[in-house]
Amino acid sequence: MKLNIAILPGDGIGPEIIGQALEVTKTVCKKFGHELIYKHALVGACAIDETGSPYPDATHELCMQSDAVLFGAIGSPKYDNDPSATVRPEQGLLAMRKKLGLYANIRPVTTFKSLIHKSPLRSNLIDGADFMCIRELTGGLYFGRPQGRSEDGQTAYDTCVYTREEIERIVKLAYEYAMKRRKKLTVVDKANILATSRLWREVAQDIAKKYPEVETDFLFVDNAAMRMIQWPKSFDVIVTENMFGDILTDEGSVITGSLGMLPSASIGVYTSVFEPIHGSYPQAAGKNIANPLATILSAAMMLEYAFGLKEEARLIREAVNASIEIGIVTEDIAGEGSKAYKTSEVGEYIVNYISQK
Ligand code: IPM
Ligand code: MG
Repeated sequence: MKLNIAILPGDGIGPEIIGQALEVTKTVCKKFGHELIYKHALVGACAIDETGSPYPDATHELCMQSDAVLFGAIGSPKYDNDPSATVRPEQGLLAMRKKLGLYANIRPVTTFKSLIHKSPLRSNLIDGADFMCIRELTGGLYFGRPQGRSEDGQTAYDTCVYTREEIERIVKLAYEYAMKRRKKLTVVDKANILATSRLWREVAQDIAKKYPEVETDFLFVDNAAMRMIQWPKSFDVIVTENMFGDILTDEGSVITGSLGMLPSASIGVYTSVFEPIHGSYPQAAGKNIANPLATILSAAMMLEYAFGLKEEARLIREAVNASIEIGIVTEDIAGEGSKAYKTSEVGEYIVNYISQK
């Protein structure tokens, strides 16, 4: 098979973790006889510095021409602490999501046995938790207009907008995932307060009728946030709007023990994007200490979702598990008193594991 991939490392630790994920992808492709063609492009703060735009046209064109995008992370403290900056790295990510039509962000929350002691939750609560957050990604407060300030600058506003069509496509997708899993869907909203949430609930109730086998639950977002730490095992598939999904997926990722472990897929109209859930961790940039596993697992998701290469994805996951079991892991997940390995050492272990299998 021929795989045509765009590589967007982005900022901070992005280039280091993407470097490892790319080596792993190359190794798997070589092993299974696939032809891997890849090109790099700029996104985020580094793209602003070079071109003035956080998502340059050339990057978009490359993404459109590719079969899949492997994405690192974006963001830089240089922009975070300057509220007056008119161009921000995050706009690059939003522009990419919008232009590629990536309306669904899929974030599986799974646990690794040997990391459970790292979870802020008691192990009996988290052991065996396995759910999937499906976050709407191109609507809501992130994109609603008007957004801005009043003339005197003393009032600010954002707008939350959702159309029936936008809700329908994401809720249907969530039901399809629920059908393939444990047939339980939790729709998260704030229908006691928000008009958009009431439309979400109405649409979801309509679609629920077409999936009688799936047990549908409706939860207000505050309650869902609480339930996620109280009883994470009660969830199978969660579907929610953009901002609620942003918040809940950070919560979901960290209860597994480390933010550095979870991959994600963003899918929609054009090319799908695969990226770790975590951010650009600027404090660690260039130090070779960042955990590459979420990005390596994102490469596995890419092989499976974008190319249907299940066996290849499975082998990557097996190698990642092996590295955790044997303790070849970065400092964020290394056990107390045990050696922490470098980003590149973890990547090399996984590459070797795959080539020797
Ligand atoms: C995420 C991130 C982004 C978001 C930021 C970097 C714009 O937090 O992918 O969850 O808020 O969507
Ligand atoms: Mg987020």
